[in-house]
Amino acid sequence: MNIGIIGSGTMGAGIAQVAAQAGNKVVVIDTNEAVLNKAKNSLQTTLGKLTEKGKLTSEKADEIFSLISWELSIDTLKESELVLEAIVERLDVKQTLFTDLENIVSETCILASNTSSLSVTSIASACRLPQRVIGIHFFNPAPVMELVEIIPALQTSEEMVAKAKSIIDSWNKKTVLTKDTPGFIVNRIARPFYSEAIRLYEEGVASIETIDHAMKVYGGFRMGPFELMDLIGHDVNYAVTETVWSSFYFDPRYTPSFTQKRLVEAKWFGRKSGKGFYDYAENAIKKEPSLNEESGKEICWRVLVMLINEAANALFLNIASKEDIDLAMTKGVNYPKGLLQWADEKGIAACVEMLDSLYEEYHEDRYRCSPLLRKMKAGNTNFY
Ligand SMILES: NC(=O)c1ccc[n+]([C@@H]2O[C@H](COP(=O)([O-])OP(=O)(O)OC[C@H]3O[C@@H](n4cnc5c(N)ncnc54)[C@H](O)[C@@H]3O)[C@@H](O)[C@H]2O)c1
Repeated sequence: MNIGIIGSGTMGAGIAQVAAQAGNKVVVIDTNEAVLNKAKNSLQTTLGKLTEKGKLTSEKADEIFSLISWELSIDTLKESELVLEAIVERLDVKQTLFTDLENIVSETCILASNTSSLSVTSIASACRLPQRVIGIHFFNPAPVMELVEIIPALQTSEEMVAKAKSIIDSWNKKTVLTKDTPGFIVNRIARPFYSEAIRLYEEGVASIETIDHAMKVYGGFRMGPFELMDLIGHDVNYAVTETVWSSFYFDPRYTPSFTQKRLVEAKWFGRKSGKGFYDYAENAIKKEPSLNEESGKEICWRVLVMLINEAANALFLNIASKEDIDLAMTKGVNYPKGLLQWADEKGIAACVEMLDSLYEEYHEDRYRCSPLLRKMKAGNTNFY
């Protein structure tokens, strides 16, 4: 197929690689020539490394590279059958781009957005043919992360959804279908991994080292919440939290923390700036976690039950199917297990009791138990 990718930054460059690896002809557009050249050079380096590691033959690497052309103007996208934009996260800029694109591409071309936080419906609303607009949300790094969320706008036709899904499936990705609501599946359900961990830290229950240790050892998560926030960058992670919170009409379940806000204000963004929750200086002294098993398990359970509650509530509100919710969290953020499967294993009654005891203790709405879990406890049912 002829694929157009607009934006050659972090996401666009990665998605272009994925599309070319699947054998498509790709045109990558960026208005910034320096960024475009950088993306081209780093793709060459990446393909070289994959060849050295024996993951690609040098013929295949050359073929992938030659399938991509690098351009400055969207006028070169006339032949495209799918155009996916990964430009700046601003509604007005994306809307303008989509209306400009409609004057260039054919009427059958799918117009997709990689937006993480904007409403796909509002992007589509700027278009003459909104039924061909859809969200196709990759995860970072796109060539590595298997998951892609497919987000039909209110206006998207069923035919477009099926077409978009089958194209992305053919790129060796696992697709999940989600409603056009803030954070889609992953960025919504993952919020408590960060926010409840920060809350525990703010309350002085444990140090960041201890909470990270507990989540890894007793939860099986690959990284602790503080390590992961430092890796994502607090500017990015805080912005997502704030967007989800305000988009949900300030639901206290998603309230951002002052702790993280202050890190952003201090420009302590995490690894990329050398300091975040942790200090990445060479001579920094590493603090040891407390290894108390009982409190470690309690910490892990409190964060986990908040994640389970979020997953259950997303199912309750029909954001996605239970299978897609579980797949999204294991493939999109590498959770060791699907949260609904985890809930079954922990016991639905145990989840409800833990949430109710937190609510009882704090009387805060963030701890309200999803009606679905409560109904399931009463009916003695499981997710699977
Ligand atoms: N970074 C992530 O982890 C991540 C993950 C999933 C989705 N997203 C989403 O993907 C999109 C891109 O994010 P990113 O992190 O790759 O951004 P980025 O800043 O790395 O890259 C964006 C690129 O788009 C270019 N650009 C801006 N306006 C343009 C226009 N009108 N025409 C052509 N090029 C233009 C910029 O020059 C820049 O190179 C955003 O919508 C973001 O929300 C990001």
